[in-house]
Amino acid sequence: MSTVGVIGAGKVGTAIARLALAAGDDVLIAGSPNAQFLEQILAMTAPGARVASLDELADAAELTVLAVPFGKIDSVDLERFTGAVVVDAANYWEPVDGTPAILAGAGALSTSEVVQARHPGVRLVKSLNHLGYHDMDTDAAPAGSAGRRALAVAADDEEASDIVASFLDRIGFDPVHVGALADGAILQPGEALFGRFVQRAELLAVAAGRGELAA
Ligand SMILES: NC(=O)c1ccc[n+]([C@@H]2O[C@H](COP(=O)([O-])OP(=O)(O)OC[C@H]3O[C@@H](n4cnc5c(N)ncnc54)[C@H](OP(=O)(O)O)[C@@H]3O)[C@@H](O)[C@H]2O)c1
Repeated sequence: MSTVGVIGAGKVGTAIARLALAAGDDVLIAGSPNAQFLEQILAMTAPGARVASLDELADAAELTVLAVPFGKIDSVDLERFTGAVVVDAANYWEPVDGTPAILAGAGALSTSEVVQARHPGVRLVKSLNHLGYHDMDTDAAPAGSAGRRALAVAADDEEASDIVASFLDRIGFDPVHVGALADGAILQPGEALFGRFVQRAELLAVAAGRGELAA
């Protein structure tokens, strides 16, 4: 059993928690500073997950999924995760996130590169951004299943990337390494993989620039 941390107890955070629990992992969730009745909410949305502090996640989790709105990332003390593996599932949505300070001067960088630049000691991995929360429960399938959905993993830290790939496989998806954090831009809203159901071969082809998905 591994311990998985989740920051943010919203739609994505609780869906990932359910999948990790189903895979036999221990799940710790750090909710919003404004959260009320979090234990009761988790009892309904991710029974078995435990409320914990960021410190507990940073100390105990093999990996922690960052599942907060992109515009609120600066409200999370990510410095506490220096040396820890963090999966950045966040997407920038202007209507929700406005124009967060963290994006100032970002230019063409992927949002995860921006987060990594802000917190260079965190072993940041970009994944899950391209998977809708509503598909997390329905599309997860055991390893070896025909037609299993593939998910991309992008990171500058190969070992961290492998840890996350192993987690994705455990919770029901074929992990596909697509390269460095910069290469993970294809997971973002409006980009090739966003919201698309693809299998391993198709994902590899898209990542290598050899394939285009039908509209
Ligand atoms: N929805 C999707 O299908 C989907 C798929 C892939 C990726 N994503 C991305 O994943 C992230 C989460 O999406 P979501 O749909 O789960 O959003 P959501 O339902 O709004 O949940 C986000 C949660 O994060 C909490 N939060 C805010 N600041 C926090 C902090 N400092 N510490 C801990 N928790 C905090 C929020 O609490 P408060 O309400 O109290 O602020 C809320 O409970 C977003 O960046 C989104 O773009 C979403």
